[in-house]
Amino acid sequence: MKVTVVGAGNVGATCADVLATREIANEIVLLDIKEGFAEGKALDIWQTAPINLYDSRTVGCTNDYARTADSDVVVITSGLPRKPGMSRDDLIATNAGIVKTVTENVVKYSPNAIIIVVSNPLDVMTYCAFLNANMPSSRVFGMAGVLDTARYRAFLAEELNVSPKDIQAVLMGGHGDTMVPLPRYTTVGGIPVTELIDEARLNEIIERTKFGGGEIVKLLGTSAWYAPGAAAAQMVEAVVRDQKRIFPVCAWLQGEYGMSDIYLGVPVVLGKNGIEKIIELQLNEAERALLVDSAEAVKGVMDVLDNMNANA
Ligand code: NAI
Ligand code: 2OP
Repeated sequence: MKVTVVGAGNVGATCADVLATREIANEIVLLDIKEGFAEGKALDIWQTAPINLYDSRTVGCTNDYARTADSDVVVITSGLPRKPGMSRDDLIATNAGIVKTVTENVVKYSPNAIIIVVSNPLDVMTYCAFLNANMPSSRVFGMAGVLDTARYRAFLAEELNVSPKDIQAVLMGGHGDTMVPLPRYTTVGGIPVTELIDEARLNEIIERTKFGGGEIVKLLGTSAWYAPGAAAAQMVEAVVRDQKRIFPVCAWLQGEYGMSDIYLGVPVVLGKNGIEKIIELQLNEAERALLVDSAEAVKGVMDVLDNMNANA
């Protein structure tokens, strides 16, 4: 299996490192526009192989898409990260230009790849890749829910002093402050979380989750990379190993949840064909209202992109 990661920055290099260390792909190509950067990161990652005892090969290149040819999966992380005081949406104009060019190049050399977008603002950059990929939407989707759910699960594990492995959760909506955690669908070793944590405390944890990205931006002065890189790699693994994992994924809706022509986080089955099924939960009225709010926020940013394209 060959996997390309575009963008050798914090998230891209971390994703490549996880892909290599866990032998998710035997060939990993790291590509960046900055001269020598991906080559340097790839060399460093490759030199961990004798220490970590794996044989996946990571190579780097500067904007040479021929090196990415025939990739099975491409992860797009190229773009600017969020700086303090910046919303994800502030990034739209710059990152849309980058994601468009990158997608066109990726598709030229790997027309059968599955594309996983990570660049922010996530839902809209996934839409941007879809507009430029000319591929079925089942093969173009975005990573956010796996990260947001991981944050939620980590906070819950800390609160209850239990293993994060035993926490199952689903989180829907856009990758932003309007994301929709679903306590009704959160369990700890099979026990509904609502039996273990009172409502007020659970709401505090949910609020922290919604602003989980911003919390790290405030601490680091740039956005997170360990969990985002690992989350993208976990999605790649589900595809290349045809695992049929159920993950919240930013997917193109065509009637599901009563919504159409929008990229939004929903639970899906991920396998070798990409999104193999979108799972439709029976949301109650309050949950549905939150999802509609989140969809409206995403749609607002999609409209910004559509207007930019119309005026280009
Ligand atoms: P970074 O600045 O460390 O890396 C970005 C890399 O993209 C840089 O090395 C840059 O040279 C490269 N790049 C820029 N234009 C390019 C082009 N046209 N072709 C190839 N490479 C290009 O940023 P970081 O922290 O890795 O974040 C990457 C993106 O991922 C940002 O947009 C960030 O907001 C987003 N992100 C999304 C998350 C999610 O949950 N979806 C979580 C964390 C970050
Ligand atoms: C995150 O959630 C900023 O999207 C980035 O960490």
